[in-house]
Parts: sequence; C-alpha cells; structure tokens
Amino acid sequence: MCGIVGYVGYQNAVDILIDGLKHLEYRGYDSSGVALMADGKINVYKAQGKLQNLIDELKTKSDSDIKSNMGIGHIRWATHGLPNQINAHPQTCNCGGLTLVHNGIIENYASLKTELEKEGCKFKSQTDTEVAAHLIAREYDKTKDLVLAVNNAVKQLKGAWAFCVMHKNEPDNIVATRKNAPLLIGVGENENFLASDIPAIIKYTKKAIYLNDGQIARISKNNIEIFNPDLSIADNKVEFLPFEPLALSKMGYKHFMLKEIHEQPDVVRNILQDKIFDEISDIKLKDVKLTKEEIKNIKRIQIIACGTSLHAGLVGKYVLEEITGIPVDVEASSEYIYRSTIADKNTLVIGISQSGETADTITAIKQVKKKGAHVLIITNRNESMLARLSNSLLHVNAGIEVSVAATKSYIAQLISIYLLAIFMAQTLDIKTDLIKDIKHELLILPSKLEAILSNCSLIREVAKKYSSYKNFIFIARGINYPTALEGALKLKEISYINATGYPAGELKHGPIAMLDETMPVLAILNEGIVYDKVMSNCEEAYARQAKLIGVANHIDDKHKKLFDDYILIPDIKDIVSPALNVTVLQLLAYYIAEYLGKDVDQPRNLAKSVTVE
Ligand code: AGP
Ligand code: GLU
Repeated sequence: MCGIVGYVGYQNAVDILIDGLKHLEYRGYDSSGVALMADGKINVYKAQGKLQNLIDELKTKSDSDIKSNMGIGHIRWATHGLPNQINAHPQTCNCGGLTLVHNGIIENYASLKTELEKEGCKFKSQTDTEVAAHLIAREYDKTKDLVLAVNNAVKQLKGAWAFCVMHKNEPDNIVATRKNAPLLIGVGENENFLASDIPAIIKYTKKAIYLNDGQIARISKNNIEIFNPDLSIADNKVEFLPFEPLALSKMGYKHFMLKEIHEQPDVVRNILQDKIFDEISDIKLKDVKLTKEEIKNIKRIQIIACGTSLHAGLVGKYVLEEITGIPVDVEASSEYIYRSTIADKNTLVIGISQSGETADTITAIKQVKKKGAHVLIITNRNESMLARLSNSLLHVNAGIEVSVAATKSYIAQLISIYLLAIFMAQTLDIKTDLIKDIKHELLILPSKLEAILSNCSLIREVAKKYSSYKNFIFIARGINYPTALEGALKLKEISYINATGYPAGELKHGPIAMLDETMPVLAILNEGIVYDKVMSNCEEAYARQAKLIGVANHIDDKHKKLFDDYILIPDIKDIVSPALNVTVLQLLAYYIAEYLGKDVDQPRNLAKSVTVE
C-alpha cells in the first residue's frame, strides 16, 4: 500500500507533491512526508497522522525552506514499525545525502540490517525501508551513479517495492524502480512525474509510461530514460490515461462512499449500454478471447479474489454453475497461493480485483498462468498489473472509486459476471428462459436501484436506531449468502462494529448461542426457492429475542410481525437480486458509520490497494 509521488520540472514541487498525495490518501494515511531538492541540498519534512498534519507542518516553514523544483513524497500504510514521524518516509542514509520513498516490503531486511550495522550504518527507524536507503547509498559510494547504485542494491533485496530515490550529487534526477508494486511515469512538457496511481498526476498530464518489474527509470525535467535490469535501454511506449479529473470530486456528497453508492444506476447503464439491447440478441465481450472450442473444453472454473471482490466471486459461483453447468470453486487469493493447487489448460481461472493491484491476487494469477490455465481478469482498472497479466479481460467500467470501502465496483463486478455467464452460455448454444430473465432484469435494474436511492429515509432511521449495538449478524441463503457477507464486511470496515454474515441455515449450528435482545439479525428475504427456509430461521431468531431486521421485496403479512424493522425494496428475480439487495446494506453501513462520526472514506487500518502479501 502507501502512495508515492515524484516531481521534477519548473513548478513548485511541494505543491504538486502534496496535491498528488491528497489523491493517493486512499492507499494509506498513517503518516506522510516529502523530500525537496534545492541547490544540491535535500530537505526532508515528515509528520505522523493524516496528510493535513504534514500540510500544517509545511506552513510553518519559510518559502526558502520549501522552494524547490524537484522532490519525492510518500503517504504511508505501515508494515514495519509504528506509524510515527521517524518511521514515516522519506527515509535517508547516514549522511542524509540519499533519500527515498518506498511502497512494499523488504522481506530480507533483518539480515541486511545486521550486515549494514556491522559496516557502521546507524539506523534511526524501525522500518524495513531504511535498509534500502543505506544499501543504495553504499552502492552509490562505489559506483557514483544512481542508476547503477539502485540496480546493484535491488539485486540484494527480496520482497516487493516501488522506489523513488534522490541523491544530492545528482540534483537534476529522480531514479525510480519497481517490482510487484505499482509505479508509473507521468510524461509532461518540461516536467515529469512519478506516481503509484493515476489520480496523483491526472491533473497535470494525460500521458504515462508504465515500468515493468525490474526496470529502472531516470527522470529529469526534459528527459526520461528507462533501463532494463541488465541496463540495456528499454523503449516502453507512452500510453494515454483514462481518467477525467471530475471523477475525483465529491460532487456535493458528504463522502465519496455515498457519492459512489448513488452512482450505481449509471454504472450499470454504462456497462450494459453497448452489450445488452434486449432479451434475445447475443452479447459481445470484445476482450474475452475464449473461443467456442476453448469454452467447450473447460472442465472447471476457479475464481480467485480478496475481500469484496471475493464476495462477487461467490455470487459468480451460483451464476456460472446455474447457467453453464461448469463446476466453480471460489477461493481467497491468499489461501490459494501456498498450497499445491490444481489448474491446467482446461481450467478457466477468473481473477476479480477492483484495483487490479492486489498483491495476493497477482501472485495467485502468476502461478496459474504458469500452469497453462486461461486467465480472465475482471477489474475496474484496465491499465493495472492484473489486466496486463490476463488472457481475457472484462473491464467493469465503474469509474474511479475513491472510498476505501468498495461499493459501485462490487455492483459492476456482479454485472460483469452475469455478462460473462450469458456470453459463455450463448457460445455453447445454451438457450434458457433464465438467461432471458437475467437480461430483462439487468436492463431494468438501474430504475430499481434508483427507487432505493431516492427513498433512503427508512434505511437512515434504521441505521440510527441500531448504531449503538456492538454486534450484528447478517443472514441469507443461496445466492444472497455472499450479500450477507458483503453487508457484514461493509459494516465492519467503516463503523468498526463486529458484524458477521452467515448462511441462514448455519445459524442453528452454533451462532444461535449468541442471540438475545442485544443482537440485531438482518435477514435478506428474497422471494424464491429459499424464502420459506430463511423465514424459519427468522422464527428461530425471534424466539431467542434477537432484534430482527428484514430486507424484503414483498410484504409478507403473515410474518411481518416477527420483524422490528422491515425494509421493502423493489421486486426482482432471485438470481439478479444480489445486485439490488447489497445497495440497502451499503447504505445501512454508511449511515451507521456516519451517525457514529467515523472516517467513512478512510477507515482506520485499511488501504484501498493492498499491494503487500
Ligand atoms: C472492500 O471494501 C475492501 N476495502 C477490500 O476488502 C477489497 O475488496 C480487497 O482488498 C480487494 O481489493 P481489490 O478488489 O482491489 O483486489
Ligand atoms: N514497508 C514500508 C513501511 O512500513 C512501506 C509500507 C507499504 O508500502 O505498505 O514503511
């Protein structure tokens, strides 16, 4: 995680670095810092806590202290060492002549530290990163060339990194490199940029160069040189960046999360607009490269993802098995990696990731690629590392998501999964009424989402009523079991309330022991094959005096009295209902967190892109 930025050009570097860090705050926010080069001298300023603390600190400095046209900046999500000022980046070598910012983890830092200490290095911080500063400085003393020094040093490191490095003896250059952590170069006129992600630089340039693993870049005001690990010259192409700066504004909403939930109807329309026109025409997915022959040969599907994307994958299991009849396994990427997994050329592996940069998912996908599986990536970032590793790509097109808690990207992932299932079925000449129903429901989903969004007052009242509870249980069955998991995750993430999602039938196998009047149980009650069963589980909870909240798509007069609160939403066919129901749970979590005064867009301890394993 962490966000890094670099600037060299004719403008005031500190303004551009701080502005860039503001747009990377979603990646980490426990401390921050900048290093500014001026007249062959490097000044480092750091602060613990939110970026605002660094901004306040910089305001106390004189213009001459911070006047500079070149610098690097960092916003941290600590992996090694407390989130305090000393551990904040930039980290420097003993003499302060070399300074760097780092995103990632240096796994062999302990042995390197012992070696460097023996040579006389004095460590100031508890970070793994400081090792790299001393190591590159040592190499620089030998080579007197920052590119060579960085290249020699990274060969001694194990782990993942993106570095931006400055040395006082090279006052016009920033040297950068990466391995398994994101970094791009923004290409400007008489200025150049470095950043972990596009939002940091999109205001200044729409042109970028992506570095491959192990490549090293030397950027100055008017020049960008890229070297391969063997130091041969590389010629990476310049690409055009997709974002409009407007996407980064809250547009009047109190939080990005609320804005992003309200964008959901348009997100669905956007995805569908050139893909589904009616219930009978075929759909086209231009970057899905699976042929009829390949689809016919698929013996199993494996879905790999983390967090919210994993929940989308669990919905995917129900949808893909129901429609294509191919067996589907779903697994957290971090669990998939360290065991012998079975995948071959007859396996379709689907990686789902909003950011396309999640380290666990990247590692898992690299493993299955080696086994010859066809890799299909569902992502919101079609320029990301995972997109680049894919054989087939489904760009979910949700637009940039700033809030750390994923909302609109989840709905977009679900829609993409329905599209994929329909595409596979049509390629296999499977024609069923269910497929027609799904197409129909998808086409009218935006107006149903709008109906929920335009009438949030009940959800708000329910949120207020339950905001003081310390625990929450979400139950559902079938295709909405993942919705229960996602509702619980949202609540945990942004309100810090202990919430758990269970398959409703499992309640009686243990969790029922926790039920009494202090435990709210939210049940998802979609009309369909499991409705009566979920209702029986609600009866069981009612009998234990749990507070019951129902989210239902029709009024059930017979059972309504069981419920303390009953949120009625538009009717929808069960198979598409996760894409509607989750909106209620997102809003509930949002309003509880807002009512409790939590930092909704930047919850403690989290980061948007988890680029460390
Ligand atoms: C979502 O609200 C979470 N912040 C988190 O669980 C996230 O879904 C997970 O880290 C996976 O991220 P990805 O989709 O970018 O791979
Ligand atoms: N490992 C570094 C630190 O703890 C960087 C953290 C990261 O990129 O997440 O400071």
